[in-house]
Amino acid sequence: MNVVDIITKQKNGETLAKEEVACMIEGFTDGSIPDYQMSAFLMAVVLKGMSRENIIYMTEVMRDSGDVMDLSGINGIKVDKHSTGGVGDKTTLIVAPVAAAAGVPIAKMSGRGLGFTGGTVDKLESIPGFRTAMGKEEFIGAVNDIGIAVIGQTGNLVPADKKIYALRDVTGTTESLALITSSIMSKKLAAGSDAIVLDVKCGRGAFMKTLPEAEELARLMTDIGKAAGRNTMAIISDMNQPLGRAAGNAPEVQEAIDVLKGGGPEDVRKLSVTLAGAMIAAGGIADEPEQTDMRKQTARDEGCSQKFAKGMEIAEEMLTGGKALAKFREFVKAQGGDPEITDDYSLMKQPSHRLEIRAEQRGYVEGVDALGIGLAVQHTGAGRERKEDPIDMSAGIVLNKKIGDRVEKGELLFTVYADDEIRLEKGAEEAKAAFRFGENIVAAPDLIKAVIE
Ligand code: URA
Repeated sequence: MNVVDIITKQKNGETLAKEEVACMIEGFTDGSIPDYQMSAFLMAVVLKGMSRENIIYMTEVMRDSGDVMDLSGINGIKVDKHSTGGVGDKTTLIVAPVAAAAGVPIAKMSGRGLGFTGGTVDKLESIPGFRTAMGKEEFIGAVNDIGIAVIGQTGNLVPADKKIYALRDVTGTTESLALITSSIMSKKLAAGSDAIVLDVKCGRGAFMKTLPEAEELARLMTDIGKAAGRNTMAIISDMNQPLGRAAGNAPEVQEAIDVLKGGGPEDVRKLSVTLAGAMIAAGGIADEPEQTDMRKQTARDEGCSQKFAKGMEIAEEMLTGGKALAKFREFVKAQGGDPEITDDYSLMKQPSHRLEIRAEQRGYVEGVDALGIGLAVQHTGAGRERKEDPIDMSAGIVLNKKIGDRVEKGELLFTVYADDEIRLEKGAEEAKAAFRFGENIVAAPDLIKAVIE
């Protein structure tokens, strides 16, 4: 098969034959197609898009490029959750123990942060002693024993995505519906769960800037999941400003524990209850709910089914009754971490420097740009520029004001944490630039924008 012909066909916006899609993905993965030809192909996909059938087939070829997890040794309906990436998004740390406490087996593989977005594996590793590397037997054993295990991605899961993602990162080809869909869904399908709940972020700090774009991505991903026999649903949530108040590894773990204790910021709690509710419903724990008035109202308000509404009620119970916190402690202990961190946050690494930034004028917060805060957090030392960079677990930013808040001159806007003064100052300058103020009252953005069941 002639690679130049395939690139040319894609450049002209034509639908490729299945063998042509397979030729590009398999050839690049095994090294027979060089970076420069794959870069040209990826750019043609970004510029011309891809037919639906080509996207579905590309996802399947990518899924089969390496190991596919067999989770049949775990009893029950295994449910996975995936976020398309954002700033301050610590929901996995909350929804995984909430759903597990409700009886849904959670066998989850998570990633590390890169660039301005954080990753669950890094966050978990800010807990002293926590291990995210486990063999398959140990992983399955942990889920069967306590109902939950979260590990880093195994070496050979979707090697095609590892190579393609690295190339996209340096060739300006990250923002493409076809490439994002195939990248995410190939990994989700290879990870082996029976059901998938997707959190599709929408706004300035997300890949998808507008609701129609986010809806298109969500529908395509749910269709691909369903076509592969997995019960898949999506929540579209706001990422114009960071989620919650804390961004950075240990600071986010701390905020997640606050939510597990029944407190924490309202937006983190609401999104966590929604996602965990979807996972509980997908896990078959909320089947055939009786039609209470409250449930009918929730279903109307959230645009979701009665089953989903019941899932959310169960998620609330897990949080308020302390069962989710107990499950989190069990999970931390099982993976070698110190569960006492839930009572004593100082057991996690503490930063040596902190800087409080106060408002220079009175007014209303009009914007807290998620991308700007994400980059500022990265530059405090909490994130990596390159994969091999070390990170500072204690670094980050904690916001005191968010969109819609009224601010008086001299009031605390945010606090920056870092291990050296240069990083502290740089993070503070960048985070300051992410704030926009106005004189008029501003409404906070809607957090849950759509539910696609
Ligand atoms: N997350 C992924 O895993 N891949 C993408 O392309 C975008 C977000």
